[in-house]
Amino acid sequence: MVKILPTVLLSTLAAWAGLVYSEPIPPYLYTRATLEEFIAAESQISITGVLANIGPDGSKAGGVSAGLVIASPSRSSPDYWYTWTRDSALTFKALVERFIEGDSSLQTTIDNYVSSQAKLQTVSNPSGSPDSGGLGEPKFNVDGTAFTGAWGRPQRDGPPLRATALTLYANWLIANGQQSKALSNVWPVIQKDLAYTVKYWNQTGYDLWEEVNGSSFFTIAATHRALVEGAALATALGQADGGYAAAAPQALCFAQSFWVNGYIDSNINVNDGRTGKDANSLISAIHTFDPAAECTDSTFQPCSSRALANHKAVVDSFRSIYTINSGIAQGKAVAVGRYAEDVYYNGNPWYLTTLAAAEQLYAAIYQWDKIGSLTVNSVNLAFFKDIVPSAAAGTYAKGSATYQTITSAVSAYADDFITVVQKYTPSSGALSEQFARSNGSPLSATDLTWSYAAFLTTVERRSGVVPPSWGESANNAVPSVCTAPPSCNSKTTFNVRVTTVPGEDIFVVGSLTQLANWSPADGIALSASKYTSSDHLWYVDIDLPAATAFNYKYIMKKNGQVTWESDPNRSFTTSSGCGSTSTTNDSWR
Ligand SMILES: *[C@@H]1O[C@H](CO)[C@@H](O)[C@H](O)[C@H]1NC(C)=O
Ligand SMILES: *[C@@H]1O[C@H](CO)[C@@H](O)[C@H](O)[C@H]1NC(C)=O
Ligand SMILES: *[C@@H]1O[C@H](CO)[C@@H](O)[C@H](O)[C@H]1NC(C)=O
Ligand SMILES: *[C@@H]1O[C@H](CO)[C@@H](O)[C@H](O)[C@H]1NC(C)=O
Repeated sequence: MVKILPTVLLSTLAAWAGLVYSEPIPPYLYTRATLEEFIAAESQISITGVLANIGPDGSKAGGVSAGLVIASPSRSSPDYWYTWTRDSALTFKALVERFIEGDSSLQTTIDNYVSSQAKLQTVSNPSGSPDSGGLGEPKFNVDGTAFTGAWGRPQRDGPPLRATALTLYANWLIANGQQSKALSNVWPVIQKDLAYTVKYWNQTGYDLWEEVNGSSFFTIAATHRALVEGAALATALGQADGGYAAAAPQALCFAQSFWVNGYIDSNINVNDGRTGKDANSLISAIHTFDPAAECTDSTFQPCSSRALANHKAVVDSFRSIYTINSGIAQGKAVAVGRYAEDVYYNGNPWYLTTLAAAEQLYAAIYQWDKIGSLTVNSVNLAFFKDIVPSAAAGTYAKGSATYQTITSAVSAYADDFITVVQKYTPSSGALSEQFARSNGSPLSATDLTWSYAAFLTTVERRSGVVPPSWGESANNAVPSVCTAPPSCNSKTTFNVRVTTVPGEDIFVVGSLTQLANWSPADGIALSASKYTSSDHLWYVDIDLPAATAFNYKYIMKKNGQVTWESDPNRSFTTSSGCGSTSTTNDSWR
């Protein structure tokens, strides 16, 4: 999470962080526990920690509306007392997986989440109205009202992530004889999120760290997955496919452009002055992990050559920049942050990004075991050589000595990332957002929901517990040519009744390019061809972007003289759905 902060505030925070946390590391209980003991204890603390942050009954979420997840109970320095669509969706994805695994106590909480999100989708906010971009709003107040302060918006990962969390649940309902509940309660929310995703995936927006306005790999990866499983769910529920199946391969096509120079450049279509090595891509690999997949490069599966090469590139980018990583040999786990250029709180490792480095590797091991072999090749060789110096190109069958050696080394490497987390977790087991680069002391927001959710999914993968397949295998073919989606227009008929005499002509102008951006000289002419003595109708049909709010006015021109309608400006929202139509019925004023 985090947040556009003014530079002054950033440096204040940095100074504050340095001041408060320059103490020696406290004696953490967990440094004396074995890894297994730590995992057992911290798993309990993590599920408790997640549930504490969910309204209305969470012990740290007093006053929070039912089903809403706070990012953290911290209300100042930093203030995370809001509900983020992304954090909530990833948290509920983890909870739904746990529910599917048999924790039936979670169902009420999940149902509350569904209802709460249905309500949030109706809230107009600074990103737009419900039909015109409002679903891209990153965060809301904890009572479900709009947050209207300045922020990095829109963020287009929220809708596809929420669609994925809810699709997992809808599929479970269908498989358990509750198709009608899936259709009436869950599908309407998913359908709106997919409509948003189809419409906006090819536009820029802010990344998951809320700082870069461009194209984020995580957003596109989440988009592809949500569209693939959304199309299948629509079919299962007998619902129309609102362009999901058609858009999915195009999103996958675009995802390929993030692969540059042997790693994933997490932010493109923006000049952000960074290398692009970013835990964004590790979190993408674990989010789109499909237990039924091969080691597919196109979808950057955890065991794919690309995702392994990228794992090395991202992890290595943190080796030399944090004091707590100094002296740790290549091939041993280190503390992982968001990206090396990070300055938020001075730029520190995060629990959830360090855990993501482990989770990707556990998922990869699951995939190799399922496939029955692993392949070392020129793309991933350097990754393997770090942990098994003798590694050489080849395909090694499960059961062979080399397969054993390599997978044991990967497993130990993954465990080592959890050991790093263990080392810097305080004896209370509380997971904040960050731990200090200088000495590992907990830092920034306390009890970060996402940190706990990340712990839960990481240790599930470690024990071989995996989520259902999302259909990667049938949906990993990359189109030979990438195409941007066709523009999605709605034909809008402007009808205005106005009494005119020959020589007087009527035009429309307004706040869209198609409406001349208010320029009277370029106004769009209406036609008088339907004007009769009993119906003084002027009209014009204009293709406008679908589901878009705008302001407009009519103007009259006579002998080069322009007469404007009186105030206020008129407003209208075009209908949603490509090729849909709508009509204004105005009278000149
Ligand atoms: C839109 O998609 C095209 C084709 O993949 C790609 O070249 C372009 O960069 C994308 N733009 C955005 C903003 O997603
Ligand atoms: C984000 O970038 C796009 C161009 O890529 C620009 O049109 C848009 O206004 C920017 N948004 C913000 C909030 O700066
Ligand atoms: C109508 O819109 C124009 C262009 O944005 C703006 O300059 C004007 O102040 C608006 N008029 C009213 C009454 O809001
Ligand atoms: C305008 O009138 C048409 C035909 O009577 C109707 O279908 C449409 O909903 C009206 N539009 C508005 C915005 O009231």
